[in-house]
Amino acid sequence: MASNAETQRLFFALWPPDPLRNAIQKNYRRAVQHSGGKPVPASNFHMTLAFLGSLDAAGALTARRAADSVHAASFDLRLDRLGFWSEAGVLWLGTAQPCAAAGKLATQLAQALRAQGLEPDAKPFVAHLSLARKVNKPGELHTAHALDWHVDGFSLLRSHTQGRSSEYRLLASWPLQSRAAGSGEL
Ligand code: 2AM
Repeated sequence: MASNAETQRLFFALWPPDPLRNAIQKNYRRAVQHSGGKPVPASNFHMTLAFLGSLDAAGALTARRAADSVHAASFDLRLDRLGFWSEAGVLWLGTAQPCAAAGKLATQLAQALRAQGLEPDAKPFVAHLSLARKVNKPGELHTAHALDWHVDGFSLLRSHTQGRSSEYRLLASWPLQSRAAGSGEL
């Protein structure tokens, strides 16, 4: 963790393309309304891979170096499950079947960060995008039709809190290798 006063709150995530953000918002608007929670703005939708917390400039550079060492293939992810974590009060959208490739990417990234001496949050990866926070009772969790996401990169984000809301700024992205152009691995 950083001792310097100049720190940034950082995390790695899968960052959906705009059309997917819009589709998620449209499909789950009612569920979010019914949940009574605080909607996460569509511009903030993301799937956290590794949460780093506050780092100074040197730590941020180290995180980028760790990401440079991660090599993984692109993959498809199907968002087809609404879930609710009562303790955290979070309504989320995730995958009915665990996505092995996303889990593997999160593990690889955490290992690369630890190898560089950083300490990502130790909570196990669960593929989810938070849709609403401060939810007490979400109502029935009806999943709308599945949304498919071709994941071809991962990103480093900065979380900036202003008053009660958070804004995420995209700092950098790393591509995942296209399977068609891959190394021949099947
Ligand atoms: P989320 O992934 O469940 O939505 C930026 O703070 C993001 O990192 C949030 O969206 C948050 O939750 C995720 N995150 C994961 N672990 C966190 C932690 N220990 N503290 C704060 N945010 C965390």
